Amino acid sequence: MNIVNWASIAVAVFVLGSVGSSVSYAAFVPADKYLIACGSSQNVTFLGQTYVPDSVQSSVSLKSQGNSYVATSNSTAPFPIYQSARVFSSTTYYRFDIEQEGRHWVRLHFYPLPGRNLSSASVTVVTEDFVLLHNFSFNSYNGSYLFKEYLINVTSDSLSIAFIPGNNSVAFVNAIEVVSVPDNLVPDQAVALSPSGPFNGLSGMALQTVYRLNMGGPLITAQNDTLGRAWENDVKYLHVNSSAVNVSVNPSNIKYSDAVSPEIAPNYVYATAETMGDANVANVNFNITWVFPVDPNFSYFVRVHFCDIVSKSLNSLIFNLYINTDIALGSLDLSNQAGNLDVPYFRDFVSKISADSNTLTVSVGPDTSTDFINAIMNGLEIMKISNEARSFDGLSSVETLLVLPPKKSKIGIIIGSVAGAVAALVFIGLGYFCLAARRSKEAPQGSSWLPLPLYGNSLTMTKMSTTSQKSGTASCISLASSNLGRFFTFQEIMDATNKFDESLLLGVGGFGRVYKGTLDDGTRVAVKRGNPRSEQGLAEFRTEIEMLSKLRHRHLVSLIGYCDERSEMILVYEYMANGPLRSHLYGTDLPPLSWKQRLEICIGAARGLHYLHTGAAQSIIHRDVKTTNILLDENFVAKVADFGLSKTGPALDQTHVSTAVKGSFGYLDPEYFRRQQLTEKSDVYSFGVVLMEVLCTRPALNPVLPREQVNIAEWAMTWQKKGMLDHIMDKNLVGKVNPASLKKFGETAEKCLAEHGVDRPSMGDVLWNLEYALQLEETSSALMEPDDNSTNHIPGIPLTPLEPFDNSVSMIDGVNSGTDDDAEDAATSAVFSQLVNPRGR
Ligand SMILES: *[C@@H]1O[C@H](CO)[C@@H](O)[C@H](O)[C@H]1NC(C)=O
Ligand SMILES: *[C@@H]1O[C@H](CO)[C@@H](O)[C@H](O)[C@H]1NC(C)=O
Ligand SMILES: *[C@@H]1O[C@H](CO)[C@@H](O)[C@H](O)[C@H]1NC(C)=O
Ligand SMILES: *[C@@H]1O[C@H](CO)[C@@H](O)[C@H](O)[C@H]1NC(C)=O
Ligand SMILES: *[C@@H]1O[C@H](CO)[C@@H](O)[C@H](O)[C@H]1NC(C)=O
Ligand SMILES: *[C@@H]1O[C@H](CO)[C@@H](O)[C@H](O)[C@H]1NC(C)=O
Ligand SMILES: *[C@@H]1O[C@H](CO)[C@@H](O)[C@H](O)[C@H]1NC(C)=O
Ligand SMILES: *[C@@H]1O[C@H](CO)[C@@H](O)[C@H](O)[C@H]1NC(C)=O
Ligand SMILES: *[C@@H]1O[C@H](CO)[C@@H](O)[C@H](O)[C@H]1NC(C)=O
Ligand SMILES: *[C@@H]1O[C@H](CO)[C@@H](O)[C@H](O)[C@H]1NC(C)=O
Ligand SMILES: *[C@@H]1O[C@H](CO)[C@@H](O)[C@H](O)[C@H]1NC(C)=O
Ligand SMILES: *[C@@H]1O[C@H](CO)[C@@H](O)[C@H](O)[C@H]1NC(C)=O
Repeated sequence: MNIVNWASIAVAVFVLGSVGSSVSYAAFVPADKYLIACGSSQNVTFLGQTYVPDSVQSSVSLKSQGNSYVATSNSTAPFPIYQSARVFSSTTYYRFDIEQEGRHWVRLHFYPLPGRNLSSASVTVVTEDFVLLHNFSFNSYNGSYLFKEYLINVTSDSLSIAFIPGNNSVAFVNAIEVVSVPDNLVPDQAVALSPSGPFNGLSGMALQTVYRLNMGGPLITAQNDTLGRAWENDVKYLHVNSSAVNVSVNPSNIKYSDAVSPEIAPNYVYATAETMGDANVANVNFNITWVFPVDPNFSYFVRVHFCDIVSKSLNSLIFNLYINTDIALGSLDLSNQAGNLDVPYFRDFVSKISADSNTLTVSVGPDTSTDFINAIMNGLEIMKISNEARSFDGLSSVETLLVLPPKKSKIGIIIGSVAGAVAALVFIGLGYFCLAARRSKEAPQGSSWLPLPLYGNSLTMTKMSTTSQKSGTASCISLASSNLGRFFTFQEIMDATNKFDESLLLGVGGFGRVYKGTLDDGTRVAVKRGNPRSEQGLAEFRTEIEMLSKLRHRHLVSLIGYCDERSEMILVYEYMANGPLRSHLYGTDLPPLSWKQRLEICIGAARGLHYLHTGAAQSIIHRDVKTTNILLDENFVAKVADFGLSKTGPALDQTHVSTAVKGSFGYLDPEYFRRQQLTEKSDVYSFGVVLMEVLCTRPALNPVLPREQVNIAEWAMTWQKKGMLDHIMDKNLVGKVNPASLKKFGETAEKCLAEHGVDRPSMGDVLWNLEYALQLEETSSALMEPDDNSTNHIPGIPLTPLEPFDNSVSMIDGVNSGTDDDAEDAATSAVFSQLVNPRGR
C-alpha cells in the first residue's frame, strides 16, 4: 500500500527543550488518530482537540432506518462532546482503518442525554477480540457520565468496535477515540507479585485504565499529556489523610533520561509528589497507603512513578513499596536507580485480585535501616488486565455475545440497502482514497450506505488521505455497512486444518489455497487462505467478506467467518462435499450426472444468481460465473461461490456500470469485453456458457480443438441454430433425455448467449425456462409438446416475480433463509404441476 510510514516521520520531528530539560526527544506523532463526535452535526472542540462528526451524511440515512438515530442536547451536557449521541437499536459497528499495528487507545464517552430514556439503555461494547463493557446501564451507575479508556494491541489493518443493545433496549455512545500509542509504552513483561516472578504476554492482552493519579498535584488533562491521558489528584484515595504531605518543584526541573521519555508521564506528574507527613506523628515508622476499589477476580497492571524531588543529595531517599500486602520494591534507593535527583523512574507490576477481594492497596513506607525517614510517590497508574474470556466485564467472551444473530423481529430488514452498502465497501476495497469516498457520497441513491441487518450495522471510518494524517485528524471519512461474520483466531484455523495439511487441500486458485477443515464442534468447513499481502487479494478478500456475510440464500455458499490475524486473509465457508460442478462434468472419473441432476443443478445456480440480481434494490453482478464457481453440497444442491469480483449493478437511472474487464476467458460477455459496460446480462451470458458446458461436458475454451470448436459458446451455438444440439451433447446422455426438455434447454442457452445484452433474458426468465425444461423431463413428453415460441413466455402464466423480493423478505436472515426458500420452492412446483400436467387441472 502506498501509505507513508508514520513511525519514520515521528522520529524525524523533534521538539526541542519544550520542557526545559537538557534532553531533547522525539515528539510522538500517532499514526492513527480518530476523534469522533458521534451523532454530531459539526466539529466539537474539547480540551483543545477537535472531534469530527461520525458522518456528514449519516444522520439522514440512519434516522430513516430506525436502527440508529441521533440524540442531541445543548443545554445540560457537562462537556461539549456530550451534546450528541448515536443511539443503536441493533448491533452496530464502527470500523476504523488502522495505519500502524500496535497498541492503541480506545476511549469511549457516554452520557445519557436527558429526555431520551438513555439511562435505562443497556450497553455492551466489544472489539473483534475483547469485551469492553457488558450490559452497562446508567440506572445502576453512580455518576452522570462515563468515560472508559482501553489500551488495545491492534494486530490487523482495522479495528471494529461493536455496540450491542440489551434486550428490548438500545445502546448509545457520545464519542469515540482511537489513537496510536508508542510501542514501548507498555512492555510485554512486568513483575508479578504473590507469587513473585516474571509476568509475560501483556502484549496479547488488553488493558483498561482504572486509576491514573498525579500524587500531590492537580488534575492534569489531556491537553497537558502528549498521549492525551488525564491524571487526577490522589487525596481521595488516601487511607489516612494526614499520613501524606504534598511537595512540588518547577516542572522544568525534571530531567528525562534515556530510560524515561515524556510519553511515560508528563513532567507535571514527576514535579509533584506525596511524601510522609512528619510533623505531629509520634511513630515515624508508618506507611502512606492508598486504597482503591477494584473488581474481584482480575489482574491489575500497576505502574509506579517516582522522582526524587525532595532530597538534597544522592542516596538519601530509601524506601519500600507494597502492593496489597506484598513487598514490590524493598529498600529502593531512588536516586541511585534513577541515576540522579529529579530524574524520573518507573516500575511495572502485576497484582492478581482474588475473587473474594475488592480492593487494591498501594503503600510506600520508609526503610528503617536509613537515617532519613521518608518515602515518596509521584504518580500511579492502575490498569485492569483482560481476563481469560478476553473480557473486562464478566466471563462472556466476544463470541458468545456476538455470535447469535438478533431475533428476527428486532432486525429492521432493509434489503434495499445492501447494494448501496456494498458499493461503498467496494470503493473502500479499491482504494482508500478520498476520491472514492466522495464518489460514494454522491451516489445517486442518496443511500450510499445504510445499516445492514444480518448481525448488525457498521460505520466504517477510513482515513483517506495522508495529508489529513499530518494534521492528526481524519478529514475525510467514509462510512459503510459491514458485518464481519465470525472471527476465527489463526490458532483455530491451524487446528481446524491440521496446520494447513496438504492432504486436506481441496483446490488452488487465483486467490490462494482452499483446505478442508473441521471446527471444534465437528462442523466441516472449507478454509480459503489468501496469498498474504497481495493487494488484489486484499480487495477481493474484503469484497468477498462484505458480499457473502450479508447475502444469505440457499443457493449461495455461506461464509461462516474469517481470520485476518497476522496479516492472514482467511475465509471460512460451509463445506461443499461434492465440490465444483466442473469436476462432475469432465476431467475426473466421477460418475456422470443424469439429465435431471444437471437440470436441478442449473436451476439451483440460476436461483442463486437471480437472487443476486434482484434480491436487493440495487442488484449485484457476480462477474465470474463459471462451472468451477458453482459448488455442490452432499445432496448435490448447487450454490454459487466466489464473490471476489462481484460488483453492484447499475442504479435505477443508469443502464450499466463502467468497469475494468474482469472475469474468466471463455465465459466473458463479448459486449462487456468490447464496451466495458457491466450489466446483469453479463452474468446471463456466462451462465449460458455454463449451460452449454453442462450439456456438452467440455471446457468453455479448449485451444487443442480445431479452431471452430475452441470456444464452446460459438461452437454450440452453430449446432443449436441448426437444431442439432444432440449431436454434440454428452454421449452419456444420448437417448436418455426428453427431446422437448433438451430443446427448451438449448433455446434457453441460446438466448443467454445472444450477442447483445438487451436480447438476453433475465436470470428470472432463465430460471423459469429451466424449471420448465425440468418439468418437461419429468412429465410424459406425449402430453406436453412445448409451444415453439415459448422461450420467454408461456401464455397464461405471469412471468414475474417468481420470488417475493420485497423489502421485508427474510432471506437475508441466515437462520430462516432455508425454510423460506423451501416454502417458495414448494409453491413454485405447485404452479408448475398445474401448468405442465394438464390432468392436474
Ligand atoms: C439548541 O440547539 C438547537 C438546534 O441545534 C437550537 O435551535 C437552539 O437554539 C439551541 N439552544 C441553545 C440554548 O443553544
Ligand atoms: C424507559 O425505559 C424503561 C425500560 O426500558 C421503560 O420501562 C420506560 O417505560 C421507558 N420510559 C420512557 C419514557 O420511554
Ligand atoms: C443486565 O442488567 C440489568 C440491570 O441493569 C439486569 O436486570 C439484567 O439481568 C442484566 N442482564 C444480564 C444478561 O446480565
Ligand atoms: C452513590 O454515591 C453515594 C455517595 O458517594 C453513595 O452514598 C451511594 O451509596 C452510591 N450509590 C451506589 C448505587 O453506588
Ligand atoms: C437477552 O435475552 C437472552 C435470552 O432471553 C439472554 O440469554 C441474554 O442474556 C439477554 N441479554 C441481556 C443483555 O440481558
Ligand atoms: C502486538 O501484538 C503483536 C502480535 O501478538 C506483537 O508482535 C507486538 O509486539 C504487540 N505490540 C505491542 C506494542 O505490544
Ligand atoms: C498541597 O497541600 C496543601 C495543603 O496541605 C494544599 O493547600 C494544596 O492545595 C495541595 N496542593 C495540591 C496540588 O494538592
Ligand atoms: C495545561 O496546559 C494549559 C494550556 O496549555 C496551561 O495553561 C496549564 O497551565 C497547564 N496545566 C498544567 C497543570 O500543567
Ligand atoms: C481527607 O481528604 C478528603 C479530600 O480532601 C476529604 O474529603 C476527607 O474528608 C478527608 N478525610 C479526613 C479524615 O480528614
Ligand atoms: C507497610 O505496609 C506493609 C504491607 O501492608 C506492611 O507489611 C508493613 O508492615 C507496613 N509498615 C508499617 C511500618 O506499618
Ligand atoms: C475468575 O475468572 C476466571 C477467568 O479469568 C474464571 O474462570 C473463574 O471462574 C472466575 N472465578 C470466579 C470465582 O468468578
Ligand atoms: C472539522 O475538523 C476537521 C479536522 O480538524 C477540519 O478538517 C474540518 O475543516 C473541520 N470542519 C469544520 C466545518 O470546521
